[in-house]
Amino acid sequence: MNLPWWVPAAGAGDLRAATPLAARAFGEELVLWRAAEGAAPSAFVDRCPHRGARLSRGRVEAGQLECAYHGWRFEAGGRCVAIPALSALPDFTPPATHRACAWQALEAHGLVWVAQAPAAGSAPLPIHLLDPIDGAPMLPSRRVLCGPFDVATSAPRVVENFLDTAHFGFVHEGFLGSREQLAVPDYRVLHDALGRPMVPLYRAWQPRASSAAQGGAWVDYSYRLLGPWAALLTKKAEGDMPGEAYALWCCPLDEETTRVWFTICTDDASLADDALRDFQATIFGQDAPVLESQRPKRLPLAAQGEGGELHCAADRLSVAYRRWLAALGATFGTC
Ligand code: FES
Ligand SMILES: [Fe+2]
Repeated sequence: MNLPWWVPAAGAGDLRAATPLAARAFGEELVLWRAAEGAAPSAFVDRCPHRGARLSRGRVEAGQLECAYHGWRFEAGGRCVAIPALSALPDFTPPATHRACAWQALEAHGLVWVAQAPAAGSAPLPIHLLDPIDGAPMLPSRRVLCGPFDVATSAPRVVENFLDTAHFGFVHEGFLGSREQLAVPDYRVLHDALGRPMVPLYRAWQPRASSAAQGGAWVDYSYRLLGPWAALLTKKAEGDMPGEAYALWCCPLDEETTRVWFTICTDDASLADDALRDFQATIFGQDAPVLESQRPKRLPLAAQGEGGELHCAADRLSVAYRRWLAALGATFGTC
């Protein structure tokens, strides 16, 4: 699959110039590296084109990635620029066809993002992160990155769980939901200009809606898909509580394993970053065992009655997500 969407592959702070970093996305082993401290990240398939050694065993020399086996060196775009075994030859330069397999890479929101090289002339779709675009709400400016969390299921299962509210009273009882308030209110699914499903308004009762909440409150949620493996929710409780937003970023490590980060956006300055991270780890720690119990691990895209799972009316955002994945041809982690 070669869909033009970025996925996170590592925390940006974990990628130091001196040390190439092994990563993984879409079942492909990758090496992430930087030519210098603070330089933009690069991503290659973690396999030297000479004899297949792992490039992540190498090191960065003079802004180039040097293979640990015979020392071939590659510049950021992937071109081989030095073959030490031939260094005695006058005027030798490696032919332009000698290249590592480069993916695209960029850094945003404390993460290193990668995308497979798209078809000629096109670029990966914008990450559509946390900035107000095409009608997205203005989000609180304090940002706290949480994760990574590894979970043994497909990325679409993780995204669908993030969009699902009917589990709150069971999986997050006492936090995000209550067994006294299980009914899912009526809500409308719309689609943005890229066809991504979104729910502009969804009301829910929550016993403890956030790490800062002292008691229960009605909360106005909104949900939107940012990409096939990323989503954003905003929540605003009644009264004077500050609004919050949570972005979910999934990296499909392979079809049935996912690495997850969250970005919390909040105006609340009363809690330290670690307290926010602890709350998110608690919530996701409640989700993970259920996620890992789901069979099949890949998200079934077949319609109900055609071998797919059963839906009820409360699941219409999930259904819209499945339909959108199918329309995109986002088959990684689906069945
Ligand atoms: S395998 Fe990388 S330089 Fe030979
Ligand atoms: Fe959950």
